[in-house]
Amino acid sequence: MRTIRTACALAQMALLLSALPSQVMAQDAHAARSPIYGVTIPEGYRKWEMIAPAEEAAPLDELRVVLGNPAAVKAIENSTMPFPDGAILVKLAYKRKQSSEFETATIPGQATTVQVMVKDSRRYASTGGWGYGRFINGQPADLAQHQTCFACHEARVKSRDYVFTHFAP
Ligand code: HEC
Repeated sequence: MRTIRTACALAQMALLLSALPSQVMAQDAHAARSPIYGVTIPEGYRKWEMIAPAEEAAPLDELRVVLGNPAAVKAIENSTMPFPDGAILVKLAYKRKQSSEFETATIPGQATTVQVMVKDSRRYASTGGWGYGRFINGQPADLAQHQTCFACHEARVKSRDYVFTHFAP
């Protein structure tokens, strides 16, 4: 009886172990990559330096903040254009919300999107060297949304290496 149980447990464990690598890989491949570009939410971005806040009028009614990794911040500080490979910009967006503690204060409400631009001049040569990703609750938005990114950035700020945000004074 006991041997059977042990054998059973061992077989189960072997099964679990053999299933593990493919599961981990599946998760990794799943690591929330944006369509077209394969961009992911960069690790540790919440600790990056703020470049500027922004606000979007109705109907979106959002508060936003753009953060940059050290390579991006350095490029902006030194007015290096184009941005070097490895530069990453992240824009966090929230619904505007009236503070319950102070009537005239507007604070971040529900998080709406995390948007990412990654500079890799070779990989993203056809889109100005930038790869784009828009995430909602950690999951990439659909293909159609990713088809809009470059067009708008190209139409408006091509001369500034496709980046809208300036350092806040
Ligand atoms: C219709 C125009 C438009 C489209 C489409 C658009 N953006 Fe932007 N994006 C902006 C504007 C304007 C800003 C400046 C910050 C702000 O006002 O929110 C910006 C800023 C950004 C920033 C911060 C860096 C910068 O350029 O200032 C990132 C990152 C970003 N967008 C990613 C994306 C991604 C990813 C997509 C597609 C899923 C996208 N954008 C589509 C207009 C657009």
